[in-house]
Amino acid sequence: MEEKKKELEHRKEVARQGGGEERIARQHDKGKLTARERIHYLMDEDSFKEIGMLVEHRCTEFGMDQFQFPGDGVVTGYGNIDGRLTYIFAQDFTVLGGSLSETHAEKICKIMDLALQNRAPIIGLNDSGGARIQEGVNSLGGYADIFFRNTISSGVIPQISAVMGPCAGGAVYSPALTDFIFMVEKTSYMFVTGPGVVKTVTRENVTAEELGGARAHATKSGVTQFVARDDKHCLDLIKSLLSYLPQSCDDKPHRLRYRESSELRPKLEELMPDSSRKAYDMKKILIEIVDTKSFFEVQEDFAQNLIVGFARVGGQSIGVVANQPRRLAGVLDVKASRKGARFVRFCDCFNIPILVLVDVPGFLPGTDQEWNAIIANGSKLLYAFCESTVPRVTLITRKAYGGAYDVMNSKHIGSDINYAWPTAEVAVMGAKGASEVIFRKEISESDNPEETARLREQDYAAKFANPYRAAARGFIDEVILPEESRSKIISAFSMLRNKRVDRPHKKHGNIPL
Ligand code: HXC
Repeated sequence: MEEKKKELEHRKEVARQGGGEERIARQHDKGKLTARERIHYLMDEDSFKEIGMLVEHRCTEFGMDQFQFPGDGVVTGYGNIDGRLTYIFAQDFTVLGGSLSETHAEKICKIMDLALQNRAPIIGLNDSGGARIQEGVNSLGGYADIFFRNTISSGVIPQISAVMGPCAGGAVYSPALTDFIFMVEKTSYMFVTGPGVVKTVTRENVTAEELGGARAHATKSGVTQFVARDDKHCLDLIKSLLSYLPQSCDDKPHRLRYRESSELRPKLEELMPDSSRKAYDMKKILIEIVDTKSFFEVQEDFAQNLIVGFARVGGQSIGVVANQPRRLAGVLDVKASRKGARFVRFCDCFNIPILVLVDVPGFLPGTDQEWNAIIANGSKLLYAFCESTVPRVTLITRKAYGGAYDVMNSKHIGSDINYAWPTAEVAVMGAKGASEVIFRKEISESDNPEETARLREQDYAAKFANPYRAAARGFIDEVILPEESRSKIISAFSMLRNKRVDRPHKKHGNIPL
């Protein structure tokens, strides 16, 4: 038995070594942790249990039968994060560049199946040169097996991807099929075709970082939701995100015990400018409404005219969607609509109530917007709100104009409780634009067109630039003072805790993609 024990320990030790000391040192020199170090850092101490440590590849081409790396370039298993069961796979770049072989893919699929069957989140730490070139189509099949499982698990368990190294070719599609992507600045990149191919085909000269680095995907494409400074920061952010999520669509998010801090919150009304034409920072308002230090922003650098993120109210996890008047006056455009729609759908999948803060002058006009399908993209956000059945609360702080009033979680599309501050203006459009249309003839024919225009604008504003018409119709449930916002919102979500909505049976809807 002693001999057998020694052999087992030796085999395990070889597996733990991955690609060996030299390659591990190279990984560290790049500022990256190894696959095992990442898992160790992320999971609760001693909770990780590895599966498939001794799996070996089956390739015999190009001399591959001459060597083996037990584990085959990916560490897979399960453990706890903050005491909650989580499944994980971490690609080991020190073994053949973390490239994906048939067996490497089988290991990932085994973990994905377990996560789905046991209804717990799965985290993928990607660090790979893509398909194992020596294996050809076997490797491509392996990717497709993963894509299929990503799709089947979508909306059942939270799936989180971190891109912590290269991620090229079809390999980008697994992360893209999951719920959230984290990238690490300067050490990670994602693209379908790399700079070399880009240069050949389009003659563009671009570096890997410019083409698919963390900043490019955070600001330009919106593919990544989070950017981390380094590996540890990335893993810390993943932990924070998980704390807002339930284990699966069958659960509700974990509720934290919350005690109101004794610190006085600033008066919300002081954060609002006097003139309705002046910008202000909606983030400051939302941070004062939710529990102290609970706001966790998603896609912070993309489409900044719409803020989305998780927070807590009275310890309860919620998703927040808010117009940001500081960027493009808070208007809805193609990017903001896509960003909002995806976030709302995620919250709805996982029973996370939604709070919507509204100050929106409408949809952004222009050929760029129309030709980039603001119609289809705006309706994504509309569709996402309409189909969601989680508790939904809206607060209109200022403008709620035109179609954007309808879209931003209005009563008509299923919001449960709609509040407005006395500063709210619920109307078809702003008073200036509206009066210029309705009174065009009178203004142009008047002896003093400027004065007539001013008076007509005043008339229109007095009639419509307020929340009372909407409140009279019951479209607004209550006009509240800014300082009442937090307690009203906590109480509304608490009242809605057992909300249940049944919708007609269908296979699935057809969101305007
Ligand atoms: C096999 C690979 C590999 C791969 C890297 N390696 N990528 N082995 N298959 N795809 C090996 C290298 O030979 C090397 O082995 C080790 O990993 C580290 O690679 P380096 O090149 O030394 O590292 P670095 O300089 O950091 O460059 C990393 C890299 C580069 C940018 C990822 O290795 C690279 O360009 N690899 C090829 C990428 C690629 O074309 N992949 C296929 C994409 S198509 P040694 O023994 O020297 O340490 C694809 C299709 C998927 O993925 C489709 C799904 C639908």
